[in-house]
Amino acid sequence: MKIKNICCIGAGYVGGPTMAVIAHKCPDVKVTIVDLNKERIAAWNDKDVANIPVYEPGLSEIVASARGKNLFFSTDVEKAIDEAEMIFISVNTPTKTYGLGKGMAADLKNIELCARQIAAVAKTDKIVVEKSTLPVRTAEALRSILDNTGNGVKFQILSNPEFLAEGTAVTDLLDPDRVLIGGDTDTEGQEAIEALVQIYANWIPRERILTTNVWSSELSKLTANAFLAQRVSSINAISELCEKTGADVNEVARAIGMDSRIGPKFLKASVGFGGSCFQKDILNLVYIAKNYGLHEVADYWEQVIIMNDHQKRRFAANIVRTLYNTVSGKKIAFLGWAFKKDTNDTRESAAIYVADDLLKEQANIAVYDPKVEEGAVLYDLNYLHTRSAEDNRKGVKAYADPYEACHDAHAIAVLTEWDEFREYDWQRIYNNMKKPAFVFDGRNVLDAERMMKIGFVFCGVGKAY
Ligand code: NAD
Ligand code: UGA
Repeated sequence: MKIKNICCIGAGYVGGPTMAVIAHKCPDVKVTIVDLNKERIAAWNDKDVANIPVYEPGLSEIVASARGKNLFFSTDVEKAIDEAEMIFISVNTPTKTYGLGKGMAADLKNIELCARQIAAVAKTDKIVVEKSTLPVRTAEALRSILDNTGNGVKFQILSNPEFLAEGTAVTDLLDPDRVLIGGDTDTEGQEAIEALVQIYANWIPRERILTTNVWSSELSKLTANAFLAQRVSSINAISELCEKTGADVNEVARAIGMDSRIGPKFLKASVGFGGSCFQKDILNLVYIAKNYGLHEVADYWEQVIIMNDHQKRRFAANIVRTLYNTVSGKKIAFLGWAFKKDTNDTRESAAIYVADDLLKEQANIAVYDPKVEEGAVLYDLNYLHTRSAEDNRKGVKAYADPYEACHDAHAIAVLTEWDEFREYDWQRIYNNMKKPAFVFDGRNVLDAERMMKIGFVFCGVGKAY
């Protein structure tokens, strides 16, 4: 079967870039991305393509190349479902904040709503593709809803998890390590898999398109994120030991990374990993393991989160301790708020938790991030419900200029590894700060030697100066 018409439900950080690249690479396939969020769809349709709601290097060019030709953004979910032969579900699946599994299980409310809507609208056979990250065996629930509430049409369910990382989404999509497609092992299932393989085969070599059964595909996504996050927590655990022993975590990472069995990637010590997925997906894995009574498995993976929470907390505690045990009334400048460079996404960013801890100590926080505005910073802090929105507003101010953010600051904390931070006139920043001028580099991006030469008191992660 050759697919001509695709619909994607969910125009977020995954749905937007993924479908834009499919449209760009498959000019004869019509791709419609739908979302309930009107503002988001309006932003994707903004005449000025620089205003699309997701910032990713190279994305606006890809969107511009296909939008209005074979790529469409719409709020008319039903029409897009009706017309499509293949429907991707790419809605958010956050951690449950209520009821059974609160704080651990994935909230599948949005997924279920999509399934019910697809079933209600579909008048012809459809292939439904899980693009969202889902607990293993979700396809079973989807099948039950689709088959029991539909109009008698046939549905094939595929799992096609997304492995893109934010900040590099476009290159990851254009040249992925692999694409994973899981489906039923019977003939119809294999035909559905082949239909999706043919889409990706337009630009990805066949040997990188992996096909498995549905459960392996669903579980591989959670496992990949768990392994990646585990590497960050592992190097961060070693970073604390480095600070005590005089070892340098970058040197240790380099030394172990040259072992081809370990490999050099994902060994950058940091203030802790953030992002909407690592924590959510590991909690989900832990919850699933517990559900099956696998408590040792659950405890093993939960430790990755415990270590990450510790890393964020000890970074904030170190700032307080170093500033003579009080930051009350002191201006602390944050360079970076996004959870990593080259994205405007701030979900679960370490900066939020470090700021929250410092606000508890009555610090005044001045934020500069090249892609994040004050509204987003305050939204993130208010979401924690630690204090009133009014108190957050009093304690935090965002600046459009990094030099202003750092002016008169007692300390600077680097929370995101934006490249531009290396290029600043650090002498000028030093001259305008309170003395002693402290810098806490939570990403090890600044040149420590140069900074100390200027006069800064400098702290990196996993380093003892
Ligand atoms: P997102 O919050 O940016 O986007 C999800 C969108 O879905 C929102 O715009 C929301 O309005 C829309 N939506 C929710 N319910 C809907 C419904 N019933 N009908 C129509 N629209 C609906 O989320 P995201 O970051 O794109 O993540 C989506 C999924 O992809 C998650 O499961 C996530 O775990 C997974 N994932 C994310 C990344 C990433 O880098 N962000 C990478 C790989 C996988
Ligand atoms: C991650 C995975 O890398 C993607 O493969 C996956 O598709 C995605 O999650 C998802 O499922 O959402 P992402 O969270 O966008 O992608 O970004 P990463 O590059 O993985 O970084 C995650 C966090 O770990 C960031 O806060 C980053 O700064 C931190 N990190 C990463 C480190 O602290 N050290 C490292 O060595 C690497």
